[in-house]
Amino acid sequence: SVQRHLSTTQPRGKVEKLTVFGAGLMGAGIAQVGAQNGLKVVLSDVTDKALENGLTIISKSLSRIAKKKSPDDIDGFTSSILKNIETTTDAVKAVENSDLVVEAIIESLKVKRDLFKFLDGKAKAECIFATNTSSLSVSEIAESCGPERQQRFAGLHFFNPVPAMKLVEIIKTPQTSQATYEALREVTLQMKKAPVTCNDTPGFIVNRLLVPYLLEAIRMVERGDATPEDVDTAMELGAGYPMGPFKLLDFVGLDTTSYISQGWRDKAASGQISEELVQPIPMLEKLVKEGKLGRKSGQGFYEYD
Ligand code: CAA
Ligand code: NAD
Repeated sequence: SVQRHLSTTQPRGKVEKLTVFGAGLMGAGIAQVGAQNGLKVVLSDVTDKALENGLTIISKSLSRIAKKKSPDDIDGFTSSILKNIETTTDAVKAVENSDLVVEAIIESLKVKRDLFKFLDGKAKAECIFATNTSSLSVSEIAESCGPERQQRFAGLHFFNPVPAMKLVEIIKTPQTSQATYEALREVTLQMKKAPVTCNDTPGFIVNRLLVPYLLEAIRMVERGDATPEDVDTAMELGAGYPMGPFKLLDFVGLDTTSYISQGWRDKAASGQISEELVQPIPMLEKLVKEGKLGRKSGQGFYEYD
């Protein structure tokens, strides 16, 4: 358990300043959990609007926690954490003196590679680079950086909602050094998450098992075999899942799910994942085209206020 990991005599992580790129669902959560656990955090995105969106996600989550932890001083609790988070649209400023960059931007190999290539020339040499990619190859992202940085590059995969989900997958590439891996383990424990380790394979552990299930659920509804509501009820009450697959798809984001399956199509060509699994799903693509991305856009398989 997390408790057991935390009680070991691990030396304190050297990471003090954390920079998070992407202030969406995941980046906001990662910044928040860092700030809650003693890190100085910089949250960066491409627009002020995206940064505001991130701060709104963080404030809502913090007030939810404060209602339980310090019900008499919700604002005090919230602002005591928010003061550890700076925001900026200036990527160069964001990595100044940073010890760890966690990238949580759009799930696109090209966009991620462009960002890391740029940052490689700006961040200090010792800074560790990590990607929160759900499905892309960590090595292919890391190759955008020079050989030195590739040793300080790994996957650090959090789960949604970050403040509530206890797991972090640490993904090593053949280039990731042992010191990098250990520093990432320490910072994961400092953020009160339980680390597991995985090779750089499509979907790592959780998504390699979870995403095929989510895609099969959409195919089931697309065939007309059951409604989303009935599939959700079935998996919640019949299999004990906290959320049925359609609630979870809306929660994860249908765009993100679509990017994951698109990214895996390339892997199928090289035999790393089965062709059948990654066939395009017209129902999913149609919703994404219509801007129905799930909870974050107000509508997906379900509608939200
Ligand atoms: N911020 C802070 N705390 C939160 C929170 C948030 N955004 N969301 C939930 N919580 C906390 C609650 O405060 C509560 O805490 P306590 O136990 O201390 O009271 C706890 O989490 C449980 O929440 P609730 O009682 O309100 O509701 P719930 O029992 O329905 O749990 C849930 C909510 C944790 C989201 C649960 O429904 C769940 O586990 N759902 C499945 C989530 C999942 O599978 N995530 C993985 C998605 S895949 C992924 O992330 C990988 C990828 O690459 C795509
Ligand atoms: P999101 O759409 O909520 O947020 C993405 C953010 O990245 C947006 O605010 C966007 O403006 C920003 N962005 C895009 N390009 C940028 C750039 N060049 N520099 C800085 N910011 C940029 O997406 P999300 O759900 O938070 O997913 C982010 C990453 O995390 C993806 O790689 C995704 O696969 C992964 N992930 C998602 C989940 C999930 O459940 N949604 C879970 C684990 C991992």
